[in-house]
Amino acid sequence: MLQYPETVGIIIVKDEDGRYNPMSASWVMLTSIEPRMIAISIGFERYTYELMRKQSEFVISFPSAGMAAEVKLFGSESGRDMDKLKQLGTPTQPATKIDGLLLSEATVNYECVLKDTLITGDHMIFSGEIVASHKHVDDLPRLYVLGPKEFGVL
Ligand SMILES: Cc1cc2nc3c(=O)[nH]c(=O)nc-3n(C[C@H](O)[C@H](O)[C@H](O)COP(=O)(O)O)c2cc1C
Repeated sequence: MLQYPETVGIIIVKDEDGRYNPMSASWVMLTSIEPRMIAISIGFERYTYELMRKQSEFVISFPSAGMAAEVKLFGSESGRDMDKLKQLGTPTQPATKIDGLLLSEATVNYECVLKDTLITGDHMIFSGEIVASHKHVDDLPRLYVLGPKEFGVL
């Protein structure tokens, strides 16, 4: 009952074919100021989990109001079955300090280097240091989860 409104991010990790896979993730939080760090909890069955076990770098983006289609698709389909970014034609640009991909229309993109992990039930928490952050030039409103399958601004 206390779940909504809920924050949502999009984690982007590279796979072995060099393809970047985005996954919607609500269980994300900032955890440290100096160094600036962020943590994200990922289910063992996700393709993103498999990729995070192999990679040491990732991007977390916070979607803007116009990105509900992305949050829905990235949070319901698996990168095992499709190229999610190509499917929607989501605009991207290269990261600056890591081998990663930023979502151009996100409110903010964080480039992260993996520091630690913690098993928590059927998910694993991945803790990363933010090595670069990019805020959109416009003050775009951020997208939130307002209910089951409902997205909007607060
Ligand atoms: C709004 C929303 C939030 C989500 N939050 C999380 C999350 O925090 N952790 C997680 O493991 N899965 C979360 N999911 C589910 C994954 O995004 C979903 O299973 C996705 O299809 C996995 O993609 P992948 O197999 O390409 O990694 C969320 C889904 C939605 C729609």
